[in-house]
Amino acid sequence: MMTALGKLFRTTAFKLTLVYLTVFALFAIFLLGYFALNTKRLFTEQATDAVNAEITGLVEHFNVGGIRRLTLVVESRARRPGSSLYLVTTPGSDGLAGNVGSLPTGALDKQGWSETVYRRIEEGETSELHRALARVYHLPGGFRLLVGRDLEERERLFQVVLDAGKWSAAVVIILGLIGGFLVARRVLRRVDAMTETTRTIMGGNLSGRLLVGGSGDELDRLAHNLNEMLDRIEALMRGLKEVSDNIAHDLKTPLTRLRNRAEEALRTSRGEADYRAALEGTIEESDSLIKTFNALLMIARAESGQARDNMVDFDAAEAAHDIGELYEPLAEEQGLTLEVDAPDAIPLRGNRELISQALSNLVDNAIKYAGPEARANGTPSAVTVRARAEGDHVLLSVGDRGPGIPEADRKRVVERFVRLEKSRTIPGSGLGLSLASAVARLHGGELRLEDHAPGLCAVLVLPRNGPLPPATPVQTEAASRP
Ligand SMILES: Nc1ncnc2c1ncn2[C@@H]1O[C@H](COP(=O)(O)OP(=O)(O)OP(=O)(O)O)[C@@H](O)[C@H]1O
Ligand SMILES: [Mg+2]
Repeated sequence: MMTALGKLFRTTAFKLTLVYLTVFALFAIFLLGYFALNTKRLFTEQATDAVNAEITGLVEHFNVGGIRRLTLVVESRARRPGSSLYLVTTPGSDGLAGNVGSLPTGALDKQGWSETVYRRIEEGETSELHRALARVYHLPGGFRLLVGRDLEERERLFQVVLDAGKWSAAVVIILGLIGGFLVARRVLRRVDAMTETTRTIMGGNLSGRLLVGGSGDELDRLAHNLNEMLDRIEALMRGLKEVSDNIAHDLKTPLTRLRNRAEEALRTSRGEADYRAALEGTIEESDSLIKTFNALLMIARAESGQARDNMVDFDAAEAAHDIGELYEPLAEEQGLTLEVDAPDAIPLRGNRELISQALSNLVDNAIKYAGPEARANGTPSAVTVRARAEGDHVLLSVGDRGPGIPEADRKRVVERFVRLEKSRTIPGSGLGLSLASAVARLHGGELRLEDHAPGLCAVLVLPRNGPLPPATPVQTEAASRP
């Protein structure tokens, strides 16, 4: 219980509440202080104005009717209820009229304003002293006049304001704390739920996802982004697992073959010629293994997106001509004619090395799979390499007149190590189309396998300006605003 509360108090929500509360309280204190001081000043101002006016009036009475008239007027005014104070004395400080009973000694000696204490005339010597604001005026003949106001009213007003301040501060603080507590608890609950889910995910259940409340607040956005990240991680993990399974499975066979061949050579070889032949076979087999590894690495490179850094602008038509030249002798050997159809320059942005490799793989396939048929029939067959621009895309295609790939297998053959049954007799590792497809995806395009009726037409569809910059998965505050 204690730690749960501690956790609550340590939340950002609660700390924010405290900061707001402090700022608000300081503001309230300032406001109330200002209000109280002004009230006090206003009261004093009013009192002094009234007292000054009264003294002027009383002096007038004295001038007209002498001390007798003054004492009469003061006597009558002193009898009225209220906070007004009056005193008229002889030069020897003996009281003549008024409602003030006692004053501190010497209080009447100096003319002018002062804050003083006093007792009313009807109060005894032991009763409490009151505070007053009073003005002393010396009349001709040595008589003294004091007019003042009791300050009790002012103090009471001040007290009222002070009390109001105290109470409202208490209420604000209590309500603020309760509010902060509730908000913090709500946030904490959701964060705890998230933590719980991430824990099960870390425990190995990669398919778990965070709950998105649907209110679209910052926690929802965070959960949403984390879920997207988890989707991506899951996809990557699945890919990784597939690759390692494939490698384990498909590289084991050639390695076993290599080993058996070496063993066989040791067992049966009779002379140097035999050993030499066996070693040559071993080297050949190793070369094909190395080639497979290289292809796998290149696919991984394309799929990880690292190769995006090497984008250059180049002429796709020129690349097609280069590949055509490279493969021409091989095609002729197989009884095929290789035609390149790319009359105009086609600017393309991309990784030239990888795109050329992908195109080579397609030409290699065309020669490999259309060649035997052409030779068997004795009819010359054409392989066409074509480069053309279409809207925002550049299309690099390789068409042949061979057996083609049945519709049902077209999706499958681009997967790693997939080879069709009828191609078992032709050497290959089943990675050529995988690389071509990975390269196309790296550039934000695709590999299309189409019916060439008869034969296969493989098309690399690539965006002319290279891949779009990667979408920012984390939405920032500014980006989410219209
Ligand atoms: N032009 C084509 N005509 C007929 N079948 C094809 C053609 N291209 C590919 N295929 C089929 O698709 C399969 C996969 O091709 P892919 O290029 O990926 O691998 P591969 O050619 O067998 O080996 P690798 O290219 O790695 O040496 C081939 O085994 C073949 O069965
Ligand atoms: Mg191939």
